[in-house]
Amino acid sequence: MTVSPKDIAGYIHKLYFPPSRKVSWSFDDFIGRHPVRYFGYCRWALFEALQAAGIVKDDKVLIPGFICRDLLSAINTIGAIPSYYNVDKHTQLADDPDSLPWAKVILAVNYFGFPQKLEPFHRYCKRTGAVLIEDNAHGFLSHDEEGQALGTRGDIGIFSLRKTLMLQNGAAMVVNACDKSYTIKPQIEIKQAGMSISFATKLFLKKSSWFINLRMIRYLSLFIRTVRKITTGHWIAPSAPDAEFRLPVNAAPCIELRYSLDYLDVEQEISRRRGLYRLLDSVMRQNDFEPVFATLSAQVVPYTYPFYASGHRIDKAKEVLKKLHLECFPWPELPDAVAPEAPTEYKSVWMIPFLW
Ligand SMILES: Cc1ncc(COP(=O)(O)O)c(C=O)c1O
Repeated sequence: MTVSPKDIAGYIHKLYFPPSRKVSWSFDDFIGRHPVRYFGYCRWALFEALQAAGIVKDDKVLIPGFICRDLLSAINTIGAIPSYYNVDKHTQLADDPDSLPWAKVILAVNYFGFPQKLEPFHRYCKRTGAVLIEDNAHGFLSHDEEGQALGTRGDIGIFSLRKTLMLQNGAAMVVNACDKSYTIKPQIEIKQAGMSISFATKLFLKKSSWFINLRMIRYLSLFIRTVRKITTGHWIAPSAPDAEFRLPVNAAPCIELRYSLDYLDVEQEISRRRGLYRLLDSVMRQNDFEPVFATLSAQVVPYTYPFYASGHRIDKAKEVLKKLHLECFPWPELPDAVAPEAPTEYKSVWMIPFLW
């Protein structure tokens, strides 16, 4: 039996608009009750993690070249010096850890919620004494093959919770290596802050799932983008020219973060994201698109559906997704120091978001 695009669109709709259920949950238990601090953005969590690791001006921080340029603001605000290693087509470390330059911190990224293999990073840390920060911005709720939660495997883990939960902002830093006596500052005050019009609209739409659907959201987005194109010249807002140097304004998380973590239907969220991934994987493979990851293993809870496309294939991908009322976006905007010489793969990754 063949499944029509209409059936797939109906199923996808259910996954984008799951029923809201209040289920008691504990982030503290999830991370093994290690010290945690909450922030507005993962960039702030990294800034604090670097400071906890003792990073000061002119210290070297080793990060992957395949990274969004905004993340550099955490390193540059301290005055530390970023240097880069390579990742392969499946986002795993491509360089020999024994040949990597000396740095005080190395960042390992769980791209799109898929675990980074940490053995080579541990080898590097053993040789150099570097602190391992596990960037789990994308991987909240994901586990590795040994069943360990991503973000709890490095000396320090950072999470961008706002990427997978419907929140105006929210991120966390978790200190896993409690034996290393890092200096952890007190939690910054979490205050009621104003809500942006765009986020308030999203929340309203989310709560109105009885009359809203993905088609309407696509038209609404198209309208907003057309206004943006006319007023700024861009369909999608690019990152600011100084994004590599300026941290976001809000260091503190929104007040709703605590509630979202205390009442989270984890089972539903895991099956929602895995269900969307599997559906989109079959659609994109049928249309000859290459996924970034060959398989979705049982412990992985993906953040988006990432795939490779370049040249005219991007138009084809957009056409395929339009039939499902979905969109795709390129990721990431690379650091200025990396972009000119970046491998083609770094510039051909697109993703289909699971939150709108
Ligand atoms: C791998 C990775 N780490 C960290 C960040 C920064 O997250 P935030 O936007 O919450 O500061 C991003 C942003 O896209 C990212 O892709």
